[in-house]
Amino acid sequence: MRARLPAVAPDAPESFDTILRDFREQIAPAMTHWGHPGWFAYFPSNSSPPSVLGELLSAGLGAQCMSWETSPAATELEQTVMSWYRQLLSLPEQFTGVIQDSASSATLVAFLTARDRVGVDHERLVAYWSSEAHSSVAKAARLADIPVERQRVVPVDGEFAMQPGALATMLADDARQGLVPGIIVATMGTTSSTACDPLRAIGQIARDHKVWFHVDAAFGGSAAIVPELRPLLDGVELSDSMVTNPHKWLLTNFDCSAYFVRDVDALLHTFSIAPEYLRTRHDHDTTVVNFRDWGVPMGRRFRALKLWFVLRSYGAAAIRSMIRTHVALGHELAAWVDAEPGFERLAPAPLALVCLRHVPPALQGDETALARHNAALMARVNATGTVHLTHTTLGGKYAIRVAIGSFRTERRHVAEVWRLLREESQT
Ligand SMILES: Cc1ncc(COP(=O)(O)O)c(C=O)c1O
Repeated sequence: MRARLPAVAPDAPESFDTILRDFREQIAPAMTHWGHPGWFAYFPSNSSPPSVLGELLSAGLGAQCMSWETSPAATELEQTVMSWYRQLLSLPEQFTGVIQDSASSATLVAFLTARDRVGVDHERLVAYWSSEAHSSVAKAARLADIPVERQRVVPVDGEFAMQPGALATMLADDARQGLVPGIIVATMGTTSSTACDPLRAIGQIARDHKVWFHVDAAFGGSAAIVPELRPLLDGVELSDSMVTNPHKWLLTNFDCSAYFVRDVDALLHTFSIAPEYLRTRHDHDTTVVNFRDWGVPMGRRFRALKLWFVLRSYGAAAIRSMIRTHVALGHELAAWVDAEPGFERLAPAPLALVCLRHVPPALQGDETALARHNAALMARVNATGTVHLTHTTLGGKYAIRVAIGSFRTERRHVAEVWRLLREESQT
């Protein structure tokens, strides 16, 4: 597309008609359409009409929400909406929420706070996460200046969840060697397969060793608003912080990431700086919340508005129903895969993600050939242009991921992706 665009900006104004025509002809067709009902790639990054309108209004207001005084209503709405969301997720009352741009940033915030809490010993700080954790965790460790020698990758069980016994052993070994266990990150809904680490057991280990316990529920967390799925988040009560992204499953367009923290003072200790030019005239700062002190950037968008629009215009019941539908569709697809000779499911599917592969008898046991075969199969399915899939590896096996959760995805779209997978597996 870029080759078709002028190399320099126009000197004279252009009509809006021309700009919109170019948007329709050049930009939209060259985008990847995450809102398509055939979107089964990565995880969903949903939008919805109320979210778009909230976003539009926040742009129109030109809000800059770094402090209470620069946007009082935005600050207070963020407090209100985060409190609503905390209750919907059945998180402990001691948790306070703040909206960050992404789960990656929120996890970085957790690492920096945990490192600060360790204090002068931070040069001996060790961090722990499972081999299935998202890459943003390793990135946060790197940015928090925790070198690979002090990063521990905990093994997972047959269902890709962290083994708490192995974690406990690693922690004890490190403590014995004079190192300082400083942060454990567990995942509820891993990126590759939506595996859920046993949060309660991990949380107990964190408590015993007085280690910061962060839960990455970037995708899966939204499911906790559904009572029968809430057990997957059981044990989050023992955590110090947790992140979940309304911009994935909760119908709120990118970006909007909810970070909940138990000890707000610890967070402020790490992030609060009050230069003279940010001090307020009436000395409000002792009584109000200034969200610029709750994360890395100073300037902040009015993200609470779109989440407020979404929660109010759908209501929690309709959102629960959507998530239930997606999860049920995932179970249905999993059952189809299990019943189909020649196909294999590679992980449990608790949260609407089905990981599968095609195993022709001639390739059985040959992982390299199976990876090549399934990559080609996925490419043929994607080339139809009706659905979009991505892949991962699970236990060294190439897996095609079918991530259900797009706002407009219905049963017929799931049936279609399954039909295409079977049809293309025969060519
Ligand atoms: C488990 C998990 N953590 C973190 C992330 C990163 O999310 P973000 O793009 O909000 O940084 C993802 C993205 O898919 C994820 O699946």
